[in-house]
Amino acid sequence: MLIETNNEEKPAVSAKANTVVPKPQAKKRVFSGVQPTGNIHLGNYLGAIRNWVNAQAEFDNIFCIVDLHAITLPIDPKELHTNTRKLAALYLACGLDTHYCKLFVQSHVHQHAEMSWILNCFTPMGWLNRMTQFKSKAESDLDSVDTGLYCYPVLMACDILLYQTHYVPVGDDQRQHLELTRDIAQRFNSTYKQNVFTIPEAQIREMGARIMSLDDPTKKMSKSESNPNSRISLLDDPKTIKQKVARATTDSQRLIAFDPERPGITNLLTIYQTLTRQSQQEIEQEFAGKGYGDFKAALTERLVEALTPIQQRYNELISDLPTLESILKQGADEVRPIAEATLQQVKQVIGLLQYPQNGS
Ligand code: AMP
Ligand code: TRP
Repeated sequence: MLIETNNEEKPAVSAKANTVVPKPQAKKRVFSGVQPTGNIHLGNYLGAIRNWVNAQAEFDNIFCIVDLHAITLPIDPKELHTNTRKLAALYLACGLDTHYCKLFVQSHVHQHAEMSWILNCFTPMGWLNRMTQFKSKAESDLDSVDTGLYCYPVLMACDILLYQTHYVPVGDDQRQHLELTRDIAQRFNSTYKQNVFTIPEAQIREMGARIMSLDDPTKKMSKSESNPNSRISLLDDPKTIKQKVARATTDSQRLIAFDPERPGITNLLTIYQTLTRQSQQEIEQEFAGKGYGDFKAALTERLVEALTPIQQRYNELISDLPTLESILKQGADEVRPIAEATLQQVKQVIGLLQYPQNGS
């Protein structure tokens, strides 16, 4: 049995005619999250958060600040605390609306950690050994890296499965984690011959799913890269944006064209395309006969145009911490019962609660 988690369950009865009004189609559930580590960058925005904002009215959304994931690598406690609030402010500044979305901090809903232990016991090590993100983050230091980093994808699976999620909008780098989530859910359901978990689907948009580093366009733009010039932070001021774009790696050719053999210019063009929503052809025409300087100036302008309003809203939100805290508390209070219902069902089927006596 699937747990019905939508509020729009019961058909409404019209008082006037005393007839049953057909119930609206329940919205599909969306869940996603970002780690409160470092500066949130353009890749996070174009690959994930902006897509959440654009589709928010269509879905029943839950967005999380995944602080338990952030402790899988060393992080200063004060930084973790402030980054969590900053990320909440950024979610709202980017346009997430609490009318459509529940926003919360992962550690405020203890069911994530509890479910994580349970699903660790249902995940073969062989599956985790295949995770490429673990391998790159562990940097071959397998003996000293903490087991939390190894089990990170299981916690992510719990985040998603606790809410009976249909769609998970993420960037391309999370594809493998989503496959693992589906495998864990399917294995659990088939072991107990019950549809305890909804099988989620990754929602990876074609455009912006993989924004590359500005200094090494063969690597993805990342929060953990030591060179700050490799990424545009959502909070970079216009001068910094201009400098970073000016320094971004291109090549010695003149033509401004999308070309997989030329990752530097292609990455900048992709960013431009994602911001302007023009076709590749339109962009190539716009810059035909022009130089990298002209293109970089136009790209800078588009970036400043996109990020300035976000920064203005962010500054207002971050200066009112009590309101931010109360939004996060309300979000956690709203999602907790949904998570608890799934956790109870899992405990029931695996025999941690009283076993049904009627033989069912
Ligand atoms: P993280 O920075 O790992 O917490 O990622 C948060 C979200 O941003 C996830 O959905 C990622 O897939 C997405 N993301 C991170 N880096 C990039 C990137 N360079 N390009 C596109 N999406 C990204
Ligand atoms: N692992 C994701 C990342 O680094 C963050 C994350 C944690 C997440 N739990 C999630 C994303 C659940 C989507 C759904 O980007």
